[in-house]
Amino acid sequence: MSEQERLDSHRAMAEAWIKTCFQDRAPRGDLYDAMNYSLLAGGKRIRPVLMLETCRLCGGEPEQILPFAGAIEMIHTYSLIHDDLPCMDDDDLRRGRPTNHKVYGEATAVLAGDALLTAAFEWMLDPSVTLPPQRVLEAAGVLARAAGAQGMVGGQVLDMAGEGHAMGLTEVEELQRLKTGALIRAAAEMGCVLAGGSDEQRKAVCRYAERLGLAFQIQDDILDVVGDEATLGKPVGSDAKSEKNTFVTLKGLEECHRLVDRLTDEAVEALSLFGEESESLCWLARSLASRDK
Ligand code: IPE
Ligand code: IPE
Ligand code: MG
Ligand code: MG
Ligand code: MG
Repeated sequence: MSEQERLDSHRAMAEAWIKTCFQDRAPRGDLYDAMNYSLLAGGKRIRPVLMLETCRLCGGEPEQILPFAGAIEMIHTYSLIHDDLPCMDDDDLRRGRPTNHKVYGEATAVLAGDALLTAAFEWMLDPSVTLPPQRVLEAAGVLARAAGAQGMVGGQVLDMAGEGHAMGLTEVEELQRLKTGALIRAAAEMGCVLAGGSDEQRKAVCRYAERLGLAFQIQDDILDVVGDEATLGKPVGSDAKSEKNTFVTLKGLEECHRLVDRLTDEAVEALSLFGEESESLCWLARSLASRDK
C-alpha cells in the first residue's frame, strides 16, 4: 500500500463514521441539519487522518479509535462555524458552501457549534468504546485541554484581540500555536495515547505535529493571499479584510514559503525514531506544505 493509499483509506473510514454518527437521532428543529450541513461538507479531514495514522504507527488499531477521530473533526468543524460568524471573521463561504449562519441563522449556527463540541465528548465516552478506560480518559483530557481556553479557543481570543494592530513575531507564533497548532498536536498525541504508545513515541509525534501545525497555519495564511476561492472553498483576502496578524503580514510571502519548507523538514526529522514506518506521516507533511486548499 502506498503512503497516499494508506492515508486515503483512513480518510474514507473517518468519513464513513462521521456520516452516520447522528443518523439515528430524533429531529430537534433544524439543529441536526445545521450540524450535518457543516460536518458533512467535506474538508480535508487532516486531524482524523493524522490521529488514525499516528495510532497505527504506535501499534494501535485505527478502527478502534474512530469515535475519537470523529470527535476531533466535530470540534474542528464547530470552530469553523463559530470562526465564520459575523462577530468573528464574518465570512460567507466555507467548504465550498454558504457558511452555516448564512443558511440557518446566527442563533442556530452558534447552537450547532455548541452541540458538535458536546457531541465530541459524548462519542468519546460512549459505552461502545472498548479501549482501556485509562487511555480513553487520557485522550479525552488531551482533547479538552487542546480545544479550550488553553488551546484553540485561547488562540481565537488572541487572533480577535490582535485585529487592527500589529503584533510581534512571538505573539503571532503563540496565537498560531494555540488556534491551529493545539488541535493538530492533540490529534497526534491522542493517536499515540489510544494506541498505548511509549513516552518516547508520544514525544516524537507531538514534536512532529507541532512543526506540522505551524507550517499548516502559515500555509493557510499564504493561501488567504494567493489562493483561489473556488479551489479553497472559502474566501481569499479574509485576513486582510479583518486586519489580522499573520506570518504573511510579518514576514512576506517568500519568507513564509521558506518557513513552511523548513518546518516541514523539522516535522519529518522528528519521526526518525520510527524509521520507514513513518513514511505516511512524512508524505502527509510534504503534501500539506504544497497544498492549494
Ligand atoms: C481551516 O482548517 C482552519 C485552520 C485551522 C487553518 P482546515 O484547512 O483543516 O479546514 P478543512 O477542515 O479542510 O475545511
Ligand atoms: C481559524 O483560523 C482557526 C480556527 C480555530 C477555526 P482562520 O480564521 O485563519 O481559519 P480560516 O482561514 O477561516 O479557515
Ligand atoms: Mg479566524
Ligand atoms: Mg477565518
Ligand atoms: Mg485563514
